Amino acid sequence: MYLDSDDEKILAGEYGETRRKMMEILVALGKVFGAEKFVPITSAQVAGASYKTIGKWGLEWLRSLDARVAVPAVLNPIGMPRERWQEMRIPSDFAEKQNAVLAAYRRLGVKLECTCTPYYINRTSYGDHVAWSESSAVSYANSVIGARTNREGGPSALAAAIIGKTPYYGLHLWENRMPQVAFHIEAGDTLHANHYGAIGYLAGREAGNRVPIFTGIRPNRDQLKALGAAMAASGAVALYHVDGITPDSRVLKERGMDISSLETITITGDEIEAIFEERTVDAVAIGCPHCSEDELEEIAGLLKGKTVKIPLYVFAARGVVQANSNLVGTIEEAGAKVWEDTCIVVSPGMDHFGTIMVNSGKAFAYVPNMCGAAAVLGSTEECIAAALGE
Ligand code: F3S
Repeated sequence: MYLDSDDEKILAGEYGETRRKMMEILVALGKVFGAEKFVPITSAQVAGASYKTIGKWGLEWLRSLDARVAVPAVLNPIGMPRERWQEMRIPSDFAEKQNAVLAAYRRLGVKLECTCTPYYINRTSYGDHVAWSESSAVSYANSVIGARTNREGGPSALAAAIIGKTPYYGLHLWENRMPQVAFHIEAGDTLHANHYGAIGYLAGREAGNRVPIFTGIRPNRDQLKALGAAMAASGAVALYHVDGITPDSRVLKERGMDISSLETITITGDEIEAIFEERTVDAVAIGCPHCSEDELEEIAGLLKGKTVKIPLYVFAARGVVQANSNLVGTIEEAGAKVWEDTCIVVSPGMDHFGTIMVNSGKAFAYVPNMCGAAAVLGSTEECIAAALGE
């Protein structure tokens, strides 16, 4: 693997022990995956921020580091809203440890924006090379924006943030971004906005870690977000294309790709509908991945002037919550809570429910293992109706 003179000096420890360790991580990764060189990155998104997932040893490792990030870097959701953790019934010893994790990241220069939707906060453009960790954010960056990132682990994303580069392999290279399997969605007029999480859930199980291309659908950006997040959870899809919609799909033909030559799997409207089931629920959670402004607007519209009968939690990035205080006010006046910094899956605040209704294919896949609750999938309207007891 080619290293320039600066890389060699970092590896020799001339810029301190932490940078040396970080360079070692990146070089080891590059060698394992056959990278010929590094590529500079424009941003990083670092997972391993919730104390629920990293625990004592993760915190100790973070505390041992002493360097500053070289590019803008944000965190994945943490285990609690930073200021309102008591309202979420988070135990104080957990809050203390979580705050210690945040203090360690702050010392490294990581911005304490804790979200799986960093694209709502920092501008990321087509062709940018980045080092992001969270699977739904990776999928969105690669597929919807057309940026280039592998699915980084927390340590490798942090190492890339501190060095400002990442090994040039995997999805940074065009040759690995070509579709390998096609999904044709045959749902006609029965397809509605909230079916994309269910399509992703079904397609991810078939696709595994292959790059899929979809035909027969025309999703908007929020629907693409739901589709990709679910595929990253039920499978290991880090990049997908939607024919004629996602940016890379428009140049596949000139790169010699004939999608009619791919294995094609058809998903029908009946298969999609079968994922949705009627069940009694004791909490409702929306915002996996974190809500966009449009999604907050839809939720506020459905709740306006009404009162929830069971807990309804909505999750969004701090920057999005602050920019939409009127919508957040309407949602909270109905008795729901809008939490920033944290999420359905990484917060211990969601662990005391028996059945949680979600509108997300990703949450549907993760809630049983990560929250110890049964999960029910519904559309946003059905989730709000369940919370209102309608
Ligand atoms: Fe984001 Fe948490 Fe879902 S990180 S994608 S809200 S599981």
